[in-house]
Amino acid sequence: MRKGLFALAAVGLLATGSVAACGDSKGSDSGSSGGSTTGKVGVILPDTKSSARWATADAKYLKEAFDAAGVQADIQNAQGDKTQFQTIADGMISSGVKVLIIVNLDSGTGKAVLDKAKAAGIATIDYDRLTLNGGADYYVSFDNVKVGELQGQGLVDCLKAKNYTKPVVAELNGAPTDNNATLFAQGYDSVLNPLYTDGTLTKGPNQSVPDWDNAQGGTIFEQMLTQNKNIKGVLAANDGLGNAVISVLKKNKLNGQVPVTGQDATTQGLQNILVGDQCMTVYKAIKKEADAASELAIAIAKGQKPTSATGKVTDPESKKDVASVLLVPQAITKANVKDVIADGFVTKDELCTADFAKACTDAGIS
Ligand code: BGC
Repeated sequence: MRKGLFALAAVGLLATGSVAACGDSKGSDSGSSGGSTTGKVGVILPDTKSSARWATADAKYLKEAFDAAGVQADIQNAQGDKTQFQTIADGMISSGVKVLIIVNLDSGTGKAVLDKAKAAGIATIDYDRLTLNGGADYYVSFDNVKVGELQGQGLVDCLKAKNYTKPVVAELNGAPTDNNATLFAQGYDSVLNPLYTDGTLTKGPNQSVPDWDNAQGGTIFEQMLTQNKNIKGVLAANDGLGNAVISVLKKNKLNGQVPVTGQDATTQGLQNILVGDQCMTVYKAIKKEADAASELAIAIAKGQKPTSATGKVTDPESKKDVASVLLVPQAITKANVKDVIADGFVTKDELCTADFAKACTDAGIS
């Protein structure tokens, strides 16, 4: 353990040396100017497939916030490739960013990047996903246990409305390597487990989906359904997985009869809700999340000490506190899909295309 730490420190020193040299050669060393010049920010997003959000929402809102503040930001997406993630990070670090914001693909590779950045004197922000044992300076996310609680309660409410007796519930969890997936499961299991125990619900199959891979989620659910035809409700951890489940249910003419949950309020998820194939989703106002992360980064880039991370999250591995901003998620059902439009996250035109026009009218979206 000790040896490991010393080895890391040594690597850190080497990295610091090389970055300082690089910064000098470009004449843009952000560390030594006493904050008089505004530094650059690097952002690495994880992929474009596990959820529509990374491609459609996060990058856009982050860019808007940095542009508005006149802070230069390099926003890239690792496309689900861990090697690519490291390469992007190396590039950003050697280009002399002052702040690095990451959404890790797993804690191990995330930590490697955070360690390198820290050794180069770069401030670090975990965005949305906490890097376990990563020691980022800040963490910006939602209350992810609460997200799970809303999913669990949403599913229970939908099952009640169907009047099923002791319905079998299947759980399709997010990536086992994403700390958020652990927190979501903690949240929904806190609602579901007591109901399995008292016999209100019947515990069915429960599986995690590697990398939140939607297609694989569909395959996993298809196997679950083949082995247990009686599944009456599905706790799917996000809208992408929910949609994969709904596709399988459609093939079996069961869509609409088996409530399915989701998360992210994607256009597809909201449309599935409008037509009655999906029970609920969880809306996380990504603009607020992007604004919170960029507020921290902009302050640091300008050489100021950020004051907005007033919360604290304890890293369950290192047991160290990380200064945090945790936002509040909202449950969305057919009754309040319009809230997501009102918040500007999705437009009526995007949502209410021809196939969904009637469902939109029925849900009071006009
Ligand atoms: C995020 C979710 C997202 C999932 C898959 C989680 O860490 O919090 O919003 O759906 O990753 O990308």
